[in-house]
Amino acid sequence: MSLEKVLIAPSILSADRMRLGEELDAIKDADLLHYDVMDGHFTPNLSFGTDTLKQIRKATNLPLDVHLMVSNPEEAVPWFLDAGSDIVTFHWEAQTHADRIINLIHSAGAKAGIALNPATPLNTLDYVLDEVDLVLLMSVNPGYGGQKFIPGILQKSRDLARMCREHGVNPILEIDGGINKDNVQEVVASGIRALVAGSAVFKGDRAANVTELRQAGERGLGKSA
Ligand code: DX5
Ligand code: ZN
Repeated sequence: MSLEKVLIAPSILSADRMRLGEELDAIKDADLLHYDVMDGHFTPNLSFGTDTLKQIRKATNLPLDVHLMVSNPEEAVPWFLDAGSDIVTFHWEAQTHADRIINLIHSAGAKAGIALNPATPLNTLDYVLDEVDLVLLMSVNPGYGGQKFIPGILQKSRDLARMCREHGVNPILEIDGGINKDNVQEVVASGIRALVAGSAVFKGDRAANVTELRQAGERGLGKSA
């Protein structure tokens, strides 16, 4: 029996914004709350700022897993730290001073994550992998919920898991985009342990969707895909 855990991180981007309080209650048995910040520049879409995050902070006990899809992470990180983020993940593609941003996040006592778009190679992580607490692999091109999973990211995930073993580090490996109960077992078998899911959670019975995703993901533990 594997002692490893699979973490379910519902993405609030797909939630019914008119019933956000009820939506937060419906996913209270998840492990993380994934909060997608989009600036309409790094991504072709706009989403949330810090005001909504501050209200969500008061309305849930889930750790806030904040995904900054913004072109100015060095400027934006302090705003989202102040708003109560537990994890702040920025995009490699949006920065010039990754090490400084990681230190900034750590100095506030939060966990630092780095996100890679589907086409960004893993060797960009060579000199930050030992510093970060989380690596987020995008399995869609950022901007919208409900997109199709990019299958090639499975090999990228296996390569990342191997890279972590070679470095002797164990950051949370998270995947984001097109995750559902049909692909999650294979995704976990490839080395991922944190699963962002928006459209697969926020339709029908949210609580049951979280449970089914976790159970399907756990079937991938101990397997190598
Ligand atoms: C996309 C976001 C994802 C998205 C996931 O840019 O980063 O977190 O909300 O939604 P699904 O699970 O529907 O692909
Ligand atoms: Zn996201």
